[in-house]
Amino acid sequence: MRVFSGIQPTGNLHIGNYLGAIRQWPELQEKAECIFSIVDLHAITVPYQPKKLQENVLDAAICYLAAGINPEKSILFVQSEVKEHTELAWLLNTITPIGELQRMTQYKDKSKQFKKSVNAGLLNYPILMAADILLYQTDVVPVGKDQKQHVELTREIAKKFNSKFGKTFKIPKAQIPAIGSKIMALNSPKNKMSKSLGPDCYISLFDEPSIIRKKTMSAVTDTGRKIIYNPKKKPGISNLLTIYSLFSNKSIKQLEKDFRNKGYSDFKKSLANLLVNSLSSFREKRKKLIKREVYVKEILKQGRKKAQNIAQLNISEIKKKMGLI
Ligand code: TYM
Repeated sequence: MRVFSGIQPTGNLHIGNYLGAIRQWPELQEKAECIFSIVDLHAITVPYQPKKLQENVLDAAICYLAAGINPEKSILFVQSEVKEHTELAWLLNTITPIGELQRMTQYKDKSKQFKKSVNAGLLNYPILMAADILLYQTDVVPVGKDQKQHVELTREIAKKFNSKFGKTFKIPKAQIPAIGSKIMALNSPKNKMSKSLGPDCYISLFDEPSIIRKKTMSAVTDTGRKIIYNPKKKPGISNLLTIYSLFSNKSIKQLEKDFRNKGYSDFKKSLANLLVNSLSSFREKRKKLIKREVYVKEILKQGRKKAQNIAQLNISEIKKKMGLI
């Protein structure tokens, strides 16, 4: 079984990225051949600072390693360093209907958010993602809920290619966690936790304890006092319960019981402690790895070589099928 997933190097990775996606990865590498990419070419589809990009790439690599990705078991590499990704994206462009791209929720959201810079890359973003996945004959794509639509489009593209040019691609499946696939913003719990909503909306995996406490205590809660799970009526507290449950491995039912006679403030204090403890290994590993840039870069270099071997073999097959070789 082959697994592929990626994260954009957009600076601070947050607990939404972790709970929705990254958390599943160390377990998968024990039973499957895993390929994890830092998808820098996706990150440049919205305004960004070129001078910070390399720093963010390194930070994402550190995050993967701190989360438990073992470079001996998994392939870890930077997307732009394997040029077959862009090559395949172009090939897949030629069979993807524009209408399919225009109906993608992420495209609609981002083109509203970045009105002044809606570029073709933003529209074609899911094709590059399909190329990432299909280039490696992937079976499983572990992602958060917001990426489900893109994986479904990938499946459609793969099926279309197979029927047009003959069986070439495996049809990959998204693997979305039952709980935590959409962590909401702390300061606006009806919206997804996302870096673009500003630092008060998320807790970074590398935030210092004082920041974690401050952000948790000021998370928006709902009217009423009870700590009960009801995402429609109590989106704020339900989101915090989900986060608590995933980091503590206690069920939401159990937490409702534990906090039955407590108020929001007690609950938040307890959650803040839990987060400070749970994220301590991220902070510590980062502090160590940030001083070992050469080591991290070597891991990415080895990863690139391994990814390239697979990518080059597969792209030749694909080009043959399309009559290009
Ligand atoms: P990105 O970088 O936005 O997010 C990385 C992963 O984190 C998940 N995620 C969340 N999960 C739960 N709650 C949230 N609030 C939350 N925010 C983000 C995302 O679902 C994702 O799994 N297009 C992808 C990157 C990508 C990719 C790929 C993924 C490029 N090529 C190939 C898989 C396979 C993206 O923008 O993720």
